[in-house]
Amino acid sequence: MRHPDTISETPAPEAPATSRRALLRGLGMASVGAAALAAGCARTEAVAAPATAPVVPPVDKSMAILGANESPFGPSPKAVSAMIEKAAMTARYADGEGEELKKQIAAIEGVAPDQVFLANGSAPILQAFGEMIAQKGKGQLVTSEATYEGVPRAVKQYEAELVLTKLTPEFKVDLDAMLAKVSSKTTATYVCNPNNPTGNMVAPVKLKAFAIEASKTAPCFIDEAYLHLCDDYDANVMTSLVREGHNVVICRTFSKIYGMAGQRLGYGIALPELAQTMGMVTRGGGVNHAGIVAAMASIDDKEFVPTMRPKFKAGRDRLYAVAKELGRPIAADPQASFVFFDVGMPHKEFAEKMKAEGVKVVGRTWAGYDTWTRICVGEDWEMDRCEAAMRKVLA
Ligand SMILES: Cc1ncc(COP(=O)(O)O)c(C=O)c1O
Repeated sequence: MRHPDTISETPAPEAPATSRRALLRGLGMASVGAAALAAGCARTEAVAAPATAPVVPPVDKSMAILGANESPFGPSPKAVSAMIEKAAMTARYADGEGEELKKQIAAIEGVAPDQVFLANGSAPILQAFGEMIAQKGKGQLVTSEATYEGVPRAVKQYEAELVLTKLTPEFKVDLDAMLAKVSSKTTATYVCNPNNPTGNMVAPVKLKAFAIEASKTAPCFIDEAYLHLCDDYDANVMTSLVREGHNVVICRTFSKIYGMAGQRLGYGIALPELAQTMGMVTRGGGVNHAGIVAAMASIDDKEFVPTMRPKFKAGRDRLYAVAKELGRPIAADPQASFVFFDVGMPHKEFAEKMKAEGVKVVGRTWAGYDTWTRICVGEDWEMDRCEAAMRKVLA
């Protein structure tokens, strides 16, 4: 299944000889592949790792790619080095390394290793959870409109009931409205915080109270894909709910602040029984070795997240200021890597006009928000081009 953000409403732009996306992909695996080949993919001691690893991807400026919420800043140099150094281990299944990563995650999250499960990205976790709570068409998910589609899409796919509440007038997820919809029919609730596409957050006190109440009926799934990007991580992190024994699933990914979208590594935290069930489904034949070693090195790189966070903040503040100055209705207080605003024309038309200026914005809309777009933070040249294009297209 394709990532929803890589699906375009408009025909794909002509592929440049080497697209930035291909180069990004190449950054991780091409280098890894070269090292593995050098070693004949056999024994680790035979690997001569390159002395230095490229970290910032080579730049193709034919299109500013601001539609898929990837990190323009790349992964930790330590993650890249780890993937290269350990490349030949790709010949082996990575179960042992997976257990080590679970222990490392458990230690930083303050939970037990049997409360952590891994997957190749967090999308498989959302899909597996959606399938599970759909209960072969008999289940019911309560969530918000204009939220991330992973779990709702799976629920619909399995023909279970989807109950969507409206956003508040501030374009935030309405937890009161959601709680009012929870009933004996409900088999799960889903909250994305910060929310994709609106980018804003719900108050932590309210989320905690909601999760405690809703999880008395059914598991409450909190998607924290963008949590590391927000201004106050400690005040908003919800792992304590699992520690306290509530039926809550916390979901994280290395695709966003850690800059590993192409490498695929995500994890969940839940009560041991649910974590075990989810782990059996999402882990399946195992989780990819390069992703595991890169994730371990990323966590060990204590400077990385504090260095990345202000970069994302500067980018989203800039996008927000431009949209505001242009008088566009906008979801206030974005805390992730993107802004969500009304472009005052059908989204498809806006996306085409931006593409003509060399800027790719998100390729889809959310029901009820057909004239809204989501634009994410890019490199400086991408931000410059995007700002110029917004001023021209929205003038
Ligand atoms: C809120 C949210 N959750 C989960 C995902 C899935 O990401 P991944 O599968 O790369 O971990 C995304 C991707 O954009 C997202 O925005």
